[in-house]
Amino acid sequence: MVVYLIGAGPGDADLITLKAVKALNKADVVLYDYLANEEILAHAPEDAEKIYVGKKAGQHYKTQDQINELIVQQAKAHENVVRLKGGDPFVFGRGGEEILALMENDIKFEVIPGVTSAIGAPTSLGLPVTHRAVATSVTIVTGHEDPTKAESQVHWDYTADTLIILMGIGNIRQNTAEIMKYRDKQTPVCVIESGTLPDENVIFGTLENISEKDIQTPAILIIGEVVKLYKDIYNY
Ligand SMILES: C[S@@+](CC[C@H](N)C(=O)[O-])C[C@H]1O[C@@H](n2cnc3c(N)ncnc32)[C@H](O)[C@@H]1O
Repeated sequence: MVVYLIGAGPGDADLITLKAVKALNKADVVLYDYLANEEILAHAPEDAEKIYVGKKAGQHYKTQDQINELIVQQAKAHENVVRLKGGDPFVFGRGGEEILALMENDIKFEVIPGVTSAIGAPTSLGLPVTHRAVATSVTIVTGHEDPTKAESQVHWDYTADTLIILMGIGNIRQNTAEIMKYRDKQTPVCVIESGTLPDENVIFGTLENISEKDIQTPAILIIGEVVKLYKDIYNY
């Protein structure tokens, strides 16, 4: 028994690694999340069991503990189990918790990286998250922390030139208000909705006005001068 913890990439089914496809080809069972493009399941054998374990913000189909338990159960019953997660499994993907559950149960696993939406969505648009003389550093941060945490670990005084926020739409008003304590309110912002997918949409604004826009999820926010660079390059 081995569990392959696989990153499915940001959305477009072709943005998956060859290594991931090879693991899927021999899967007996695939447990997949809502952000993993279902087209990718076609790489698994037709008779492989495909189990949807959900996990969309606010609509948890199964809890993380239930998912961990299910992966362990499936691993004990099958030779090759694939756990398919959106983007990269370790970028706000709770992949670390899943491998800890496997370790506790002495189950072999392999982690196969994926293209994270944090970088893959802007890059596929042609928006460089770093650029010589414009941005030499990037911070990727969650816009939605576990509400049960005793103390917040997100402090909005990050000094990186480019700030990328995942899961940032629900709290966009509060978060941008915090960021404006440290950055100019005219700092350019770009939102990428459904990056790399057919319904991809890009919205521009500033720290001051981006929370007034009608934004559909999943979406990431990119904050910094690279957004101005992008607008200049493509004449937006
Ligand atoms: C739970 S996190 C998982 C991130 C994932 N592990 C990754 O590396 O992309 C979910 C968040 O990722 C972002 N996201 C994932 N796919 C996206 C896409 N195709 N377009 C825009 N944002 C996306 C959104 O911010 C969403 O709320």
